Amino acid sequence: MAKVALFPGSFDPMTNGHVDVLRAALEIADRVVIAIGVHPQKSPFFTVEERTAMLEDIVATLDPAIRKRVSVMSFGGLLTDAARSSGATVIVRGIRDSSDVDSELRMAAMNAVTAPEIHTVFVAASPMNRHISATLVRQITDMKGDPSAFVPAPVAARLARRGARIGG
Ligand code: PNS
Repeated sequence: MAKVALFPGSFDPMTNGHVDVLRAALEIADRVVIAIGVHPQKSPFFTVEERTAMLEDIVATLDPAIRKRVSVMSFGGLLTDAARSSGATVIVRGIRDSSDVDSELRMAAMNAVTAPEIHTVFVAASPMNRHISATLVRQITDMKGDPSAFVPAPVAARLARRGARIGG
């Protein structure tokens, strides 16, 4: 049976660090479902439709043999419900540094109680990309800077429309 991994996040927007985690997830599982978590009480930088479109554009840039193993969805409820409905047995989360560890372990422990059959696997982004955060990418964009070193090209194009000065 094909092993399915759910790769959840806000992806507001997806960064090069997220791409590293996606590549690691593809090493672990046969299929990877990128799942955009939608928080009704939060106002995101990009709408869920925009984030879905960007993720699909990023997936389209992957090698065809890899691309067909990746899908994109959004969810508004519990992560474990999204994992179960996707047929995932693994949840993949990226860890940047020690500041991520406590909250990620807490979330994994809660999810292990609600869905004991699903395991959370932690992946480190590459050293080159480990410092990147979507929050800082949004801040650079708001301040008319150039965040293109930190994000895949389809995201850079969208950020340009939101005021980022791509290419200096
Ligand atoms: O990229 P982010 O913002 O760290 O992603 C957070 C996300 C979407 C994975 C997280 O908010 C989440 O799991 N939301 C679903 C709600 C849920 O299941 N809550 C209980 C977890 S203990």
